[in-house]
This record gives sequence, C-alpha cells and structure tokens, in this order.
Amino acid sequence: MSRVDLESSIQSYLRSTLSPKRLIHSLNTAELCKNLAARFGLEPQKGHWIGLLHDAARELPPEELLQRTQSLGIRPDPQEQENPILLHGIISAEIARSRFGIEERELLEAIRHHTLGKPGLHPYGKVLYVADYIEPSRTFVDDTFRSRILALSLDEMLLEILEEEKRFRKNLASITQEMYDELKGRRVERA
Ligand SMILES: [Fe+2]
Ligand SMILES: [Fe+2]
Repeated sequence: MSRVDLESSIQSYLRSTLSPKRLIHSLNTAELCKNLAARFGLEPQKGHWIGLLHDAARELPPEELLQRTQSLGIRPDPQEQENPILLHGIISAEIARSRFGIEERELLEAIRHHTLGKPGLHPYGKVLYVADYIEPSRTFVDDTFRSRILALSLDEMLLEILEEEKRFRKNLASITQEMYDELKGRRVERA
C-alpha cells in the first residue's frame, strides 16, 4: 500500500471506530509524535503511524478486548481482567499489524505499551507515551506544563510526566514504576 493509501485507509478506519473527540486526540498525537520523532533522530513517518494507531482499539467493548487478547494467546493479568480497557494497547498493536501491515517490533511495542509504559522502552515508545500525555487536546495538562516538557530531552520529558502522574495518583502501576525507577537511576548515574 502506498503511504497516501495507508494514511487514508487508517483514517477511515479510525473515523468508523472512534468518537470525534478520540479521533482528534489520535490526530494530535500523530502530529506531535511526528515532530518529536524528527527531533530525537527517529523517522517522522513512523512516529506519525504509531500516534495515529495507538488508540485504534480504545472504544471496543471490554468483552471484545478480553476475548481478542485471549485469542492472541496472551493471558490478561488480574489488573487487566478487572479493567479490560488496559488491553487496548495490545489490540491496537494487533490492528496495526494485521490490518495495516506494520511489522516493525519497536513500533508495535510502542503501541502495545503506551498505556503503562515499561522499563527498557524503545525511543518510539517514549515519544508516543509523551505525545499521548501532552497533545494539545489533553485538558489535564496546561500550556505551562506543556512548554516546560517540550523543552527537555526525551528521557527527561518522560520522567517529568511520570513525576506529574505520581502527584495525581497514589500509586503508579508496577510496570510504570519500574520504568520510572530506571529513568531516575539513569539520571542519578549521570549526575
Ligand atoms: Fe490509549
Ligand atoms: Fe491516547
């Protein structure tokens, strides 16, 4: 499929499955991922694809997310059983692969882990995690926070976002906490 055909087929798929608000969120995330990818030495076009597709499964019914995850041979953990929406990263990655032919591991990993992150996340995953959090239609962050984040290096961006999440939630999910500890450890090493 040519780049233009792929773009229009993804967009029409998203229009058929996402609410207008989430479609805007996805388009904004794609634009910001593209810019961040360019800035951090990644391929802008790939940044665009992962941003566009990261929430492709976000509005599927919870039972369908569970059932599709199980049919991939993945056993949801107790937290995911209880809150199957957490599985939308896995299924969005599966849609990117099977429906739109995206095969690269780091791109599929970025989509799969955009909800909670993970230690050892590839830069594409970091770019997506950051863009998903601060894209312009996100109302839980303000412009001061956004500009402060955008002035940082990629790891610092992620770390600041996780600090912010820690302020608002009592506990980070354990895999998110592991990513946080890894980033924090690196900063300490550099100091
Ligand atoms: Fe998401
Ligand atoms: Fe999102």
